Parts: sequence; C-alpha cells; structure tokens
Amino acid sequence: MRAVDIIIKKRDGKELTRDEIRFFVAGFTRGTVTDYQASAWAMAVLLKGMTDRETTQLTLAMADSGEKLDLSGVVDLALDKHSTGGVGDKTTLVVEPLVAACGLRVGKMSGRGLGFSGGTLDKMESIPGFRTDLTKEEFLRQLKEVGLVLTGQTSDLAPADGKLYALRDVTGTVPAPPLIASSVMSKKLAAGANRIVLDVKVGTGAFMKTQEEARSLAKLMVKIARLAGRKAVALLSDMNQPLGHAVGNALEVKEAIETLHGGGPTDFRQHAIEVASQLLLLGQAEKTLSAARKRAGVTLKDGSAFERFRDLVSAQGGDVRYVDDPSLLPRAKFVEEVPAPRSGYLKWVDARQIGEASVALGAGRAKKGDPIDHAVGIVVLHKVGDRVAKGAPLFTLHANDQTKLEAARAQVLAAHQWSAKKVKPLPLFYGTVK
Ligand code: URA
Repeated sequence: MRAVDIIIKKRDGKELTRDEIRFFVAGFTRGTVTDYQASAWAMAVLLKGMTDRETTQLTLAMADSGEKLDLSGVVDLALDKHSTGGVGDKTTLVVEPLVAACGLRVGKMSGRGLGFSGGTLDKMESIPGFRTDLTKEEFLRQLKEVGLVLTGQTSDLAPADGKLYALRDVTGTVPAPPLIASSVMSKKLAAGANRIVLDVKVGTGAFMKTQEEARSLAKLMVKIARLAGRKAVALLSDMNQPLGHAVGNALEVKEAIETLHGGGPTDFRQHAIEVASQLLLLGQAEKTLSAARKRAGVTLKDGSAFERFRDLVSAQGGDVRYVDDPSLLPRAKFVEEVPAPRSGYLKWVDARQIGEASVALGAGRAKKGDPIDHAVGIVVLHKVGDRVAKGAPLFTLHANDQTKLEAARAQVLAAHQWSAKKVKPLPLFYGTVK
C-alpha cells in the first residue's frame, strides 16, 4: 500500500477500507506518512467527506495509535466531557472540578487551540508549571489518588490525534465532521472514559454552523461511543456569540476561577451547570436533572469546586499561587477599553470574528509549533439583547503589540451589530442527543 494512493482515492470521493485507514494512521503516527501527505489527505476528507463506517474506523485507528487506558481496575465509573470547539469556551475548567467535588472521577484528555477556537491545554498552560503531557502511569495514578486529570495527547495516548490536530489547526482542515468526530472520540476512547458528555457547539463561532449539521455530528459521536461500549450524551449549545466574556488564555483562566468562586458571567455559569448536571446524571450521583442542577449550583457557591481545581493544578505541577491570586497570571502590556460607538440593542456579537481577532493578537497559532501568547485576548462585555448606551464600555483589548491592537479593535467593533429595536437574547442550548 502507498499513502499517495490512499490520498488519491479519497480525493476522488471513494470510500476507504478499514485496512487503508489503519495503514495511513499507523504510518502517520510512525512518521512514514509525512505531514504534507497527511495535510493533503485531511483536505480531501474535508472536501469529499467520509461515510459513518469510515469515520468509525478512523476513530478506532486513531484511538489504537497509542495505548488505551483500561480504567476497570482503577475506578468503577470514569467520566469525561468534550466540546467540539468554541470561542470563550472555558467550560472544562469549571465542570471538571465541579463534578469531582460531587464525588465523581473525571479523567480528561483535552486539546489545544484549533483554528479560531481556543484550546483547554493552552489555557491551562497560562498557569506556570502546569503539565499537560502526563504519561499513562501518571494519568492512572492521579485519577485514582486525586480523582481528576486534565492532560493532552502524548506519544503514549492518542498520538495520531496529537499530530493530526496540529496540522489541521494551520491547514484549513478543521471543520470536517469526520475529522472532528474521530479527533474527539479517539481521545475519549484512549483515555478510557465510560460515560461521556459531548458539548456540540452550533453557530458562527463553532465548526458546525447549523443545528442540522451539529445534530448529525452529535448523533455520529454518540453512535461511535455506543459501538465502543461507552455511553455518551450530546448537548447542542449556542456558539454564535462568545461564551462568557473572556476570550484568550489567561483571561479565560481568570474568568473560570471567578466562576469557581460562585461568580462569573451568568451565561457561562448556567452553561457549566448544565454540562455538569448531565455528567452527574450519567455518573449516577443524582437521579433527576433538576436535582443535579441544584447540586451543581450549590457546589459552585460553597467553594468545594474551587478546592478541586486547586488540587488539579497542584497534582499536575502548576503553581497554585496563580490560582489563589489570578492577578499574577500573565498580563498584556496594552489594555484598552473600547466604548460603544452608538446606543442601541446588540443584535449580533460575532463569535467567529472575535475568535479570529484573539488568534491574531497571538492567543492562537498561525503555523504548527508557534508559541502562544497567554496574556492577550479580548473581554467582550455585552451579550446579544443587551441595551448599551453610546460611550459605555463595549469590550477590552489585551495586546502586546500596538499594530495588532489597532487591527483587533476594528475587527471586534465590526463583530458587534446594532438594532434600534429590542432584540431577544440567544438561547444557551438547542437540544440533547442520546
Ligand atoms: N475538539 C477536538 O478534540 N477535536 C476537534 O477536531 C474539534 C474539537
């Protein structure tokens, strides 16, 4: 078999066999299939698609590219959650410790920034010392002893996803349902979770632009989980405007910590409570959704979720002084508050434009391996439906470069659209797929 023939076959819109997919994924993991071949193949998948059968085989091949954790001897039930990627989506930072504070165990493998969407690993690395490359042994030990783990793909765990993810980020090959489904689910299968909540984002700041596309991706991932003997529930959630206010790595960590203290933006807190509640149901900590919501709300307020976040940071080598005092987190040289150019109701706050502006400030990568600037980003102060008076603060830019700040100011201003008439707020969720 030759990699080039597999690329050509997909380019011509044909269905790949199990053996061809496994050959390609194994070769890419070993390095005998090159980065440029994998990039060309990913573009062919984006343009021609894959059948559900191919996507399932791709997921299994990627999960098998490294070791797969067997948690049966370690914990009875291991929970996990994963988002398909959004702007300002810091949900894991709150949900994982929140669920752990309710007595459940969460072992999570996250990703880095992808295109205009931020990545949990990049956010957590704003905390000096925090390690995101745990070995298999470290993962297992920490899950057993501390009860929560937040790590990334390594040469041990889902290495094919780690490599392909970095290429997709910078080759325009992110928004392909087969690549998203296999990327998300291969990590979940490799990390051994048996109960999974999938947060499938819909809207301008998501890779799935319509509810229909998001629902079909959700159904496919839930089906892959079932075929692999796991149980998954998917929530379809809004990503037309940023989640919460903060977009950018350290800014998002700070906002997550505020939320773990019972504060934070209302939309983000409610979103986190909903995702956590689904995990509490799946993990059998509560019997009904309303009881789960109540418990999650109390656990955020009483400080126990924050204590578990602190435990997580400390277990993975992070400096907890930055968690106790988030003002120590990386800060940008230039901080500019931009006023509203007019009075009116906000009709649209385009998450995609804001995500792209944040990446251009340095919060994401333009090329594989680019360093991240943890300090930069945008704090968007208002939501769709808010009435804002001319001259009131609209957003704050955090930049380390004056030219980039000017460009971000124009882009974020253009991302805000106005109406003279009242506008309905956007919903947080569009449904559930089981
Ligand atoms: N999250 C992932 O892990 N992979 C994707 O492709 C998108 C979001």
